[in-house]
Amino acid sequence: MRLKTLLTATALAAGVAVSAQAADLTVGFSQIGSESGWRAAETTVSKAEAKKRNVTLKIADAQQKQENQIKAIRSFIAQGVDAIFLAPVVATGWDSVLKEAKEAKIPVVLLDRDIDPSGKDLYLTAVTSDSVHEGKVAGDWLAKQVGGKPCNVVELQGTVGASVATNRKKGFDTAIASHPNIKLVRSQTGDFTRSKGKEVMESFIKAEGGGSSICAVYAHNDDMMIGAIQAMKEAGLKPGKDVLTVSIDAVPDIFKAMAAGEANATVELTPNMAGPALDAIIDYKANNKTPPKWIQTDSKLFTAADEPMKVYESKKDLGY
Ligand code: AHR
Repeated sequence: MRLKTLLTATALAAGVAVSAQAADLTVGFSQIGSESGWRAAETTVSKAEAKKRNVTLKIADAQQKQENQIKAIRSFIAQGVDAIFLAPVVATGWDSVLKEAKEAKIPVVLLDRDIDPSGKDLYLTAVTSDSVHEGKVAGDWLAKQVGGKPCNVVELQGTVGASVATNRKKGFDTAIASHPNIKLVRSQTGDFTRSKGKEVMESFIKAEGGGSSICAVYAHNDDMMIGAIQAMKEAGLKPGKDVLTVSIDAVPDIFKAMAAGEANATVELTPNMAGPALDAIIDYKANNKTPPKWIQTDSKLFTAADEPMKVYESKKDLGY
């Protein structure tokens, strides 16, 4: 039996709704990998949130490869887990394996990234932020900072094909579209990693004649921005002062960079996707309650004016 001990006899007799803590479920989590500080924190928080709710969480690290995620999902199905959490590395290519999960009557919850709308019927709910909005918040912040002045921007994109990379680009492009003084002059993937972010930024600086024409850097995550900051400093540029920076995640290191005057802004993404996902799955199993199709997490802008070292300290409880 998949759902082991959900209701006590007394609760059943009294018809009492089951609290989340009463669950004893096994959930398989196909995690992307550990490409960023945010991702590592998400894994840590997921373990803690599962423990709080007495849920056994089996995590499979896919090392950034979709084929490994597909294998992990098949293995979770074979093990007969109660539910599957999936952080999909890219948006396409899930239909077959998710159909297999559906046929096995195992609900799937998407964490932090989406899949193509064609797969909408193949998962129960998705716990994600509005990643188009995140890009828009970043673009609006930049537009406000530069006013009417000309500004050449370079962009470090996330993993090619990941919903969050597509959407964060879309949101940013929409925000700057009404500001002809802001020009996106270069845009390339840095695969959400610090090392790639640095490498790509070095190539941007070279291509832009040493980087003096670059007014701002937009990165789809903070880790790539930390790498880019390093590249700028090595090239003799002053990030946070001569070159504006705006990125996404709000990991502790970006607040350290802000406190040092080397970064300007970040849009927060909570690493706690598992908490709401677990609550939804427990309620679904115990009370047959279908969650909304999208459980949206907040996106908050932080700037260097927001006491970055205080925020840095407060982040310690969030799995970082
Ligand atoms: O899907 C969320 C993104 O994945 C985070 O913004 C990034 O850091 C991670 O790699």
